[in-house]
Amino acid sequence: MANDHDTVAYDVQDGIAWLRFNRPDKRNAMSPTLNRAMMEALDELEFRDDVGVLVLTGEGPAWTAGMDLKEYFRETEADGLKGTRKAQRESYGWWRRLRWYQKPTIAMVNGWCFGGGYGPLFGCDLAFAADEAKFGLSEINWGILPGGGATKVAVELMPFRKAIYHAMLGEPIDGKTAADWGLVNESLPLAQLKDRVTQVARILLDKNPVALKATKDAVRRVGLMTYDEAEDYLVRAQEAANSYDSEGRKEGIRQFIDEKSYKPGLGAYDKSRQG
Ligand code: COA
Repeated sequence: MANDHDTVAYDVQDGIAWLRFNRPDKRNAMSPTLNRAMMEALDELEFRDDVGVLVLTGEGPAWTAGMDLKEYFRETEADGLKGTRKAQRESYGWWRRLRWYQKPTIAMVNGWCFGGGYGPLFGCDLAFAADEAKFGLSEINWGILPGGGATKVAVELMPFRKAIYHAMLGEPIDGKTAADWGLVNESLPLAQLKDRVTQVARILLDKNPVALKATKDAVRRVGLMTYDEAEDYLVRAQEAANSYDSEGRKEGIRQFIDEKSYKPGLGAYDKSRQG
């Protein structure tokens, strides 16, 4: 099933939603129109029963060249503070939505990834890049600081010296370096990227979806907590997850201890047999 919002496109196949930045002629730069379309697409896909994992990728040679300098900056500024704040709400809004998305999310970075692109990059739970991709905090090259959360993303994902070098120099790095510095999980040749992402998505599709949502939120939340706060949060989060699925973990234990049909250390239980 396909849908086309013009600046954004998606299709769903075998449990995976392939959501694409779709302005290849403009290197998928994020205009206000695109930001609104992304929020709508995320809305449409989030609770569909046939979607278990969402992959965010780009049409053409770019993942996204960041914020649209003309439509996002120049034209909204011309509309005064009101225009600027509206554009910020719309872009930050869908990145935030992505950070706390119901389904697991994977950034498949096929090409250019600059500036504001770090918002959705961090919004996705996992990230895989093409060796050929190029990442950069290019803001310094056109005269601003890396805003829209980009500086925060750099500091969250990279060691201090790498982050500050990346932000101050504005030099692009390739996919391998991005993996080395912590921006993405892995980098591999573009020709192999989709197969690898599909493989990872399929592994996620086999897991208990309630446990996956609780887990991804927990990893994002505990970083800012003390140990005791995190311990308490994790107890409460599991108990809240139990209210959506109280049988999954019991079935997982049963298949291992009683049935001896799988080993949790090596893979997931068969959730199709959960009552
Ligand atoms: N905002 C607005 N338009 C952009 C854009 C952006 N961020 N990035 C690319 N475009 C447009 C170009 O203006 C050009 O438009 P045109 O065909 O109407 O002239 C078109 O997309 C193609 O871009 P071009 O620069 O010719 O492509 P390229 O493949 O040679 O280079 C980039 C690709 C990504 C290296 C280059 O476009 C670039 O540096 N973009 C800006 C990146 C940036 O600083 N982003 C941070 C914003 S926070």
